[in-house]
Amino acid sequence: MLKSCFTTAIISLAILFVPVAQAAEPIVIKFAHVVAEDTPKGKGALLFKKLVEERLAGQVKVEVYPNSTLVGDADEMQALLDNKVQMLAPSLSKFDKYTKQLQVFDLPFLFDDAEAVARFQRREKSRELLRSMIPHGIYGLAYWNNGLKQLSATKALHTPEDANGLAFRIQSSAVIEAQFSAVQAKGVRLPFAEAFKALQSGQVQGAENPWSNIASQNMHTVQPFITESNHGVLNYMLITNGTFWNNLTFAMRSELEGIILEVTQAVNKEAEALNRRDRDRILASGTSKLVTLSPEERDAWRQKMVPVWKSFEEEIGADVIRAALTVNRRH
Ligand code: SIN
Repeated sequence: MLKSCFTTAIISLAILFVPVAQAAEPIVIKFAHVVAEDTPKGKGALLFKKLVEERLAGQVKVEVYPNSTLVGDADEMQALLDNKVQMLAPSLSKFDKYTKQLQVFDLPFLFDDAEAVARFQRREKSRELLRSMIPHGIYGLAYWNNGLKQLSATKALHTPEDANGLAFRIQSSAVIEAQFSAVQAKGVRLPFAEAFKALQSGQVQGAENPWSNIASQNMHTVQPFITESNHGVLNYMLITNGTFWNNLTFAMRSELEGIILEVTQAVNKEAEALNRRDRDRILASGTSKLVTLSPEERDAWRQKMVPVWKSFEEEIGADVIRAALTVNRRH
């Protein structure tokens, strides 16, 4: 009798626990972005998915939505705040509604080169900026690199005067708008998904992008000239919804943090090579003529655009701009 009671109890316990364990659904991380998969960010998102599904198998599932297929520039941040997506990596130019400090990355000719930007991203001030949107429910996890921006247009841009009167597709950024006003051109804010069409239709005559974004959107096929200006940077912040993140278990968050570190290193190591590859592909395709600036021409662009720093100094903070400038070798 005692034995049969014991057996019944064991069976009941087994029934109680097994279905619970089986019923626990994996947490889903929807990771949406606006670029193609064969780009630094696109590859980063896929590597993140791969590592998470290897190391947190059965616990976390990652769904990647590239090319604005789930949400685009206009609605992605709200979707994150509503927890409809859990991860994004918007360009650093797209955060000014939540913090003005990140506008430092848009200041034209601020950084000597991509290595200087990378150095700044590792500095304490940049680490602080990752946390600057917490009051809005946005938690910064890492900086992901793409690269320096080039100016493309329907005409050759050698001097700032060559840009007078042209319309350029820009990201939604007051600094970038001011940068084009400084050379008597017009910045037209458009979502990334609409950039190619706007260039093709003639709604705008130019744009500014890293090589990888030009190539992956085929913009070079409608832009006969590309000036290698390296005048600014287009990098990303990997972000998540603060409440979603804090509700994960400590163990899960720690595992995800380790994966993010690994993916960030991979993205940032590969970004420059991908941009070099796409530069070579574009030039080999013969669609666009490369305009190389002489030191005097580059200086003329710099002279025109650098006054923009002053007009945004109060919003961004002089300390942030100073911290960014110290990463340049010539400083
Ligand atoms: C991106 O690289 O995420 C797109 C940036 C842009 O809108 O130009």
